[in-house]
Formats: sequence, C-alpha cells, structure tokens
Amino acid sequence: MNILLLGSGGRESALAWKMSQSVQCEQLFIAPGNGGTSVYGKNVNISPNNFPAVKDLVLKEKIDMVVVGPEDPLVNGIHDFFLADESLAAIPVIGPKKEGAILEGSKDFSKQFMARHGIPTPGSKSFTKESLENGLAYLETHSFPVVLKADGLAAGKGVLIIDNLAEAQEELKLMLSGKFGDAGTTVVIEEFLTGIELSVFVLTDGENYVILPEAKDYKRIGQGDTGLNTGGMGSVSPVPFADEKFLAEVEKTIIIPTINGLKKDKIDYTGFIFFGLFKVGDQPMIIEYNCRMGDPETESVMPRIENDLVELFQATAQRKLKDVKIRISPKNAATVMIVAGGYPGAYEKGKSISGLDNVRQSTVFHAGTLSEGGIIKSNGGRVLAVTSLQDSQFEALQSATADAARIYFDGKYFREDIGFDLM
Ligand code: AMP
Ligand code: GLY
Repeated sequence: MNILLLGSGGRESALAWKMSQSVQCEQLFIAPGNGGTSVYGKNVNISPNNFPAVKDLVLKEKIDMVVVGPEDPLVNGIHDFFLADESLAAIPVIGPKKEGAILEGSKDFSKQFMARHGIPTPGSKSFTKESLENGLAYLETHSFPVVLKADGLAAGKGVLIIDNLAEAQEELKLMLSGKFGDAGTTVVIEEFLTGIELSVFVLTDGENYVILPEAKDYKRIGQGDTGLNTGGMGSVSPVPFADEKFLAEVEKTIIIPTINGLKKDKIDYTGFIFFGLFKVGDQPMIIEYNCRMGDPETESVMPRIENDLVELFQATAQRKLKDVKIRISPKNAATVMIVAGGYPGAYEKGKSISGLDNVRQSTVFHAGTLSEGGIIKSNGGRVLAVTSLQDSQFEALQSATADAARIYFDGKYFREDIGFDLM
C-alpha cells in the first residue's frame, strides 16, 4: 500500500524508518519530511496543516493510509476533514478525530475527563479572565510550588512552575491577558507533584489497545538535568524504575479507565495515546495526555517494537487490535539528541553537517535538517537524534553518546549524561 506520513521531526524519521521496513509498504511519502526522511520514502513539501494540499497529494499518489505524526493537524481536525470528504472518507487516518485530540488540545478538558473517570491526577482548578479574582484568591490558599498551565497548545511552553504567591498571581494575570495567545484563555492551576517522570504509549482502535514500550525523556538543556526546558534532549527505553508491577498498576488505574472513559463519553478514538506520568512513591499519576507519540521518545520506542508497524496500523484501522500480540525487544534503546548551539534560545541554521558516515553502532534519525545540493544542513534547534539499541542500558548509552561525538557541525551540542541517572 501507499502511505503518507505527516510531519518533519525526529519522531517522524523514526516512524518512517520503521514503516519503510514493512512488507505492506509499497511507497511511503513524507510531508514535508526533512533531510533524512528521503532515505525511507519521498518527501513532498506541503504543510500537514494545509488540508486541501494534503487531499490533492492523497488523490494524486493513490494513498491508502495517512499517519499523522504531530498534534496540531489532529487538533485542527484533519481526521474529520477526511471523513467529511467523499473522495477521502474510506482512507484510514491513524490519529484521532478532533473530539479525541482535545485530550491534548485542552488541558481543562483533559483534567475534567480524568476527574470524571477516576483517573489519578494532581488536584486542579481552571480559571478564565472572568474568574481572575477567584483565581488570585485560590492561589492564596495554595501550597507552593504551584503549576500554571495554559489550556491550549502552546508549543511546549505553556507550563510554568512557580514557587511563590506574588509571582504566581502575576503570571496568572499575564496568562489570562494573552501571554500565550488564545492557548491561555483558560488557565489550569495544578498541584505540584514530586516524583519521577515517564511516558507510556498505547495504540488504540477505540475498543482495544496495545501497550508500546515505555520511555523516559530528558527535557533540560544542561548536564545533570539543569537549565532551560527543551523539546527533549534524549530518551531511554525501557525505564528501569517502571517494573512489571508498576506498569500493571499503570494499566489498571490509568490506561483501562482512559479507554473505557473514551467509550463512555462516546469519543471514538483511533491512534496513539501518550500518557505523561509521574511515579509518586509506588503509584502512577497522570499529568497529561498527548494525542500522538512523543519526541524524542519515539526514537527509542520504535527500535524496540518487533511487529510490522504498518500491520499494527492496519489492525487499528480495521478495529482488530484485539487479535494482535505486541512483541517488544528486551534490548535497551538510548537516544541522544544533537542540538544547535544556543538552543533552546536563539540559534543559527544552515550549518553543514559532517561525520554522518562515521556512526558505528547507532541509527541517526534526522530532526531539524534539510538536504541542499546533496549536503545535509541544520534547519532547526533539535537537529539529529542518535539512537542505539544494545543488550544493556549502559552499552546503549555509551554507543549513542560515542556516535553523537562522531558527528560534527558548527556549534553542535549534546548531553553526555542521558539516562545515567537511572543506572
Ligand atoms: P507539559 O508541557 O504538560 O509536558 O509539562 C511540562 C513539564 O512540566 C512536565 O514534563 C513536568 O516536568 C512539569 N510538570 C507538569 N505538571 C506538573 C505537576 N503537576 N507537578 C510537577 N511537575 C509538573
Ligand atoms: N517528549 C515530550 C513530548 O513529546 O511531548
């Protein structure tokens, strides 16, 4: 079959890498893709949010399935767009409709969903411009640190952790008067959790689900998890502290109630669900849903999935996931992200990348790159994801880090300590 993958990051490179290995995959198109995805298929330079252009491509290339990488086309309703169009309605879209994507698109909605279905999550209250005074008063009674979250999509920047009342009140005012644009029309004030974070993923057809390998991502720019938050500096899978007992608890208290909650609320969901979790003591709590895979988690998750990914997607589209047995490699994956100097602040693009052929024991997934006259250049903050799959976590971390050092571009930076806190 012909498949179209939407997106352009490291996550999409890992999805394209895995899909291109499928016996079911005749032609793979990636829109827009990046400097590395053309190895797995054909890049087409259209935006995933330009639905009419996606439609033209799908009809022209006789696409049989569309896989959506990032959240914004889903939140904007690309699946609904397909269903509403006679010429597209029969083509499966892997990724939820708007009614499901809102689990990520609105934090207020997702907190209400969790509360309604008894899913363990930190306590919270939501406020708008109209209820600002109540919000300010609520903060006076709150413990610190406190977490302020813009309700809508804010490109990963809409979460603030604040440790005193005056600043929290000031930020609440700023958020409700447009600091994050429309995303901050509603602000969720949430209890701060102390624990350790991990990401759990399922693929669901709305009735059944398969649990994919869990992962942990490293968000801070600096060694030892210090400094500013980024889109993610690396990841590991499996996660040693997520043992069988803990993962069984995640399934019982979070995954099953979520799938059942979707059914009860008549939200027909097909695609990935990303559970952003904290391990608090021995217990899992959820802080967020995403309606897509994580980045850079996907780069560590995909190499551990032994099933044919396209067959998993076909089973999802045909609502036959209950017949599928997921097979996970016991090996350890580690991903080290190479970023541009200055990231997550201002950084330069267009740096020529060398040394990609020197990599020995890893797969390099391109993120922010482009190919210009055969030369690979940097084209974003997060540039390359270097993933190694080895027998032990130590070996995986060592080889991913060693291979990251073999790649060069002006200003390049990577963390050398990804996952070492878990050893
Ligand atoms: P998000 O944008 O929702 O992924 O949140 C960004 C980061 O903020 C998370 O990865 C957590 O590290 C942190 N965070 C979010 N909610 C909480 C919370 N309730 N308690 C502690 N940290 C949180
Ligand atoms: N790695 C976190 C995310 O993809 O949102």
